[in-house]
Amino acid sequence: MALRSRISGTGSCVPRKVVTNQDLERIVDTSDSWISSRTGIKERRVSVGETTVVMAVKAARNALKSADISAKEIDLVVVGTVTPEMIFPSTACLVQSQLGIKSGAAAFDVSAACSGFLYALDAADKYIKAGAAKKALVIGVDQFSRIIDWKDRSTCVLFGDGAGAVVLSAGEGERGVLSSVIHSDGRHWEMLYAPGSIQPSHFEEKAANDYYVKMNGNETFKLAVRTMGKAITDIIEDAGLATEDIALLIPHQANIRIINATKERLKLPDDRVFTNIEKYGNTSAGSIPLALDEAVRAGRVKDGDIVVFVSFGGGLTWGATVVRW
Ligand code: ACO
Repeated sequence: MALRSRISGTGSCVPRKVVTNQDLERIVDTSDSWISSRTGIKERRVSVGETTVVMAVKAARNALKSADISAKEIDLVVVGTVTPEMIFPSTACLVQSQLGIKSGAAAFDVSAACSGFLYALDAADKYIKAGAAKKALVIGVDQFSRIIDWKDRSTCVLFGDGAGAVVLSAGEGERGVLSSVIHSDGRHWEMLYAPGSIQPSHFEEKAANDYYVKMNGNETFKLAVRTMGKAITDIIEDAGLATEDIALLIPHQANIRIINATKERLKLPDDRVFTNIEKYGNTSAGSIPLALDEAVRAGRVKDGDIVVFVSFGGGLTWGATVVRW
């Protein structure tokens, strides 16, 4: 029988500091009613000392605990992040070191903005299916508070910091990842980007002397609705299922209106779509695994359920995964 990767544990971590919409009213010209009605966000978490690696390690420890395995059993670590702890080494290597994961395991980061976790999951799933890894730690983490211009009301109200992690275990049988796809279209990189450097770059006109996240919100919104809806219908079909089979959709938490539009497009009832955007905003690569961990802990995912993840983010990148829990 073919190998499958099963999600055998989940974990998450968010910083302690809560920043409400009212707090933001004191920093930029905005209002709770604008943020709530346009995005669904009420508050977000902002790191004070909980850097990318701190959140990643804590989320990973929680995932290992829920999988009831030791870090020593992990032979692959993949971290999706666009706010790594350092330029190098990879955050994955830092996680490996802090968790005491054995020397010789493989550890690497992937950069796919808000799709970072699904890109990381896709890679780890393929290693497991190929027999190249038995137990993988897959982490999505971002600390956007570091790359947000806190004077730009069009972006600073949207993002928060957070991390989520899963343990993938190789096994045979019906449970696990049934289908996984990732996609990108670099032509639209200017929709959403963070130059991250004051040095002139190849993209000098756009990137020079600028550091923070830039976004064409309107266009990103329209593309997100179209792309996520299609990604779900395509992957469900690929897995030989129908949308009615979806027990729980866990979409990237970017904007409640994007999530609602996707839900309506697929005619999914409210109780089959998980959201926690009101508490955390858009945590980029942290968003899906953080939502998954909350859904699992809230008893929203039962053995045998068809669970679907879908993401959309800078790059442009998007991805979808179908899992039989
Ligand atoms: N408070 C008050 N007013 C604001 C704010 C704010 N925080 N931000 C913008 N406005 C104003 C604008 O200046 C504009 O004013 P004007 O009409 O006088 O010009 C007005 O509100 C409307 O602005 P729009 O940009 O048209 O508002 P829209 O309804 O499109 O909502 C939003 C903006 C929330 C950003 C939405 O477009 C969105 O969510 N886009 C998608 C974001 C996303 O999904 N990103 C992808 C993933 S992120 C990643 O990959 C890292």
